[in-house]
Amino acid sequence: MLIHSALLALGATLAAAVQPLEVQGQYFVNPKTGNRFQIVGVAYQPGGSAGYDKAAGRDPLSDPDICLRDAALLQILGVNTIRVYNVNPDVNHDECASIFNAAGMYMILDVNSPLVGESLTSYNPWESYYAAYLNRTFAVVEAFKDYPNTLAFFSGNEVINDEKSGADVPPYMRAVTRDIKNYVKNHASRPIPVGYSAADVRDILFDTFNYFECSLEGDDDDMSKGDIFALNSYSWCGDSSFKKASYDQLVSGFKGSSVPIFFSEYGCNTPSPRIFTEVGTIYGDQMTGVFSGGVVYEYTQEKNNYGLVSMEDDGSAQLRSDYVSLEKQYSKLDFASIQGQKPPSDSTNKAPVCSSKLITTDNFNNNFTLPVPPPGAQKIIDEGVKPAPKGKLVEISNWKVKFTVKNPDGSVITNLAVKPLEDDAINSPGTNTEAGTQTSAEETTGTDSSASPSDTNAAAGLDARVLPAVAMGALALAAAAAF
Ligand SMILES: *[C@@H]1O[C@H](CO)[C@@H](O)[C@H](O)[C@H]1NC(C)=O
Ligand SMILES: *[C@@H]1O[C@H](CO)[C@@H](O)[C@H](O)[C@H]1NC(C)=O
Repeated sequence: MLIHSALLALGATLAAAVQPLEVQGQYFVNPKTGNRFQIVGVAYQPGGSAGYDKAAGRDPLSDPDICLRDAALLQILGVNTIRVYNVNPDVNHDECASIFNAAGMYMILDVNSPLVGESLTSYNPWESYYAAYLNRTFAVVEAFKDYPNTLAFFSGNEVINDEKSGADVPPYMRAVTRDIKNYVKNHASRPIPVGYSAADVRDILFDTFNYFECSLEGDDDDMSKGDIFALNSYSWCGDSSFKKASYDQLVSGFKGSSVPIFFSEYGCNTPSPRIFTEVGTIYGDQMTGVFSGGVVYEYTQEKNNYGLVSMEDDGSAQLRSDYVSLEKQYSKLDFASIQGQKPPSDSTNKAPVCSSKLITTDNFNNNFTLPVPPPGAQKIIDEGVKPAPKGKLVEISNWKVKFTVKNPDGSVITNLAVKPLEDDAINSPGTNTEAGTQTSAEETTGTDSSASPSDTNAAAGLDARVLPAVAMGALALAAAAAF
């Protein structure tokens, strides 16, 4: 009892934090353990792009009650990273960032938004490259650079997606990357990686990669070179394979990369519901030498039908079968070994020297003379955004989810809460097993652990807490039969 309250007191005063990760060559590395890090991510944009509402002062990381609900569900699922597309640098993200941090999850932030003046345009990019635009992207850096769980910034998302944009955008995108990197260098206390998230348009994918990866005049410290490269890829659909999904081409195309490569989106939704068989391959031997994991698109169900979870305006939510399928695929993997790999010691690849020879497609830009920062921008890079909307970790006093969340079969999930992790801990499948399922109308107290279906299945080595009640019964029978 005494120990229990002492622990509680500790939990209430210590703000545990994840270890900020570093890029070492083509790997993400946890500097504390020396292990490589594989992104097990989900795209997080409740409400779709409308979840960012500038006038209302709302973005996906502005409502702590919603973040708590989602962090609990994502923690149970087993993810360690969220990607957030559209954030408002001037709203407070401290509670949401602290919740995801405590849940052992990193954040990848896009510094842009679809609003005019808040991203580089695919056509006539010179018209959108000006100081006020950059000021806004730097403000996003200010807002997130002080959270330990900020993993990376995307300087652009799918701005180059066809031959025309490939002809015009590359020098501007590379210039924006340079400006953000200079901003991070001048104003952040650690080197947070910056890079581009590409559309997997296979004809121009490797030209895009080559354009951003190379170093100008062979200078390893070239500030315009991307620190990471990611692609939104939907080539694995249904019950596919490494070859059939052309993942083999991706691995051979990115082999030898000098920067980490990962899927910034994956999860083709035809056929639907999804079975996520790519998960085993993405975290398997064929991929992990070259790739550092990926981000499933996406957390909430929106019009485009990619959701793991449906949410209602009143804050209640329901898991979709895609959540259960993804959880099942994750649970098959041995994450202790996947996340325990050391980077090979002599294997840091060197970036090629930029040259028009790297570009193979006609009309794709092969001119590496970059635009200089637009008027007024260098002053902001040097002196900082004013006022700077800095974030910081804060105490979270309540970890229990306030909203009703249901399984796909309509049964209610009980004891739904974020489990705050210890210092340096990163979330993985099986970390949060507190939740149970209420299958009857009878109220369960949730304190009798032997009565919790999740515990029953945990004891049998099965991770089935969010399976429909019927399936859980079957699993329990199967487990019983095994003894
Ligand atoms: C720069 O960004 C900050 C933070 O969003 C904002 O308050 C300020 O007005 C912006 N300045 C300019 C010149 O756009
Ligand atoms: C490359 O781009 C720069 C800047 O736009 C321009 O001055 C130069 O003429 C271009 N070089 C070639 C070979 O087109």
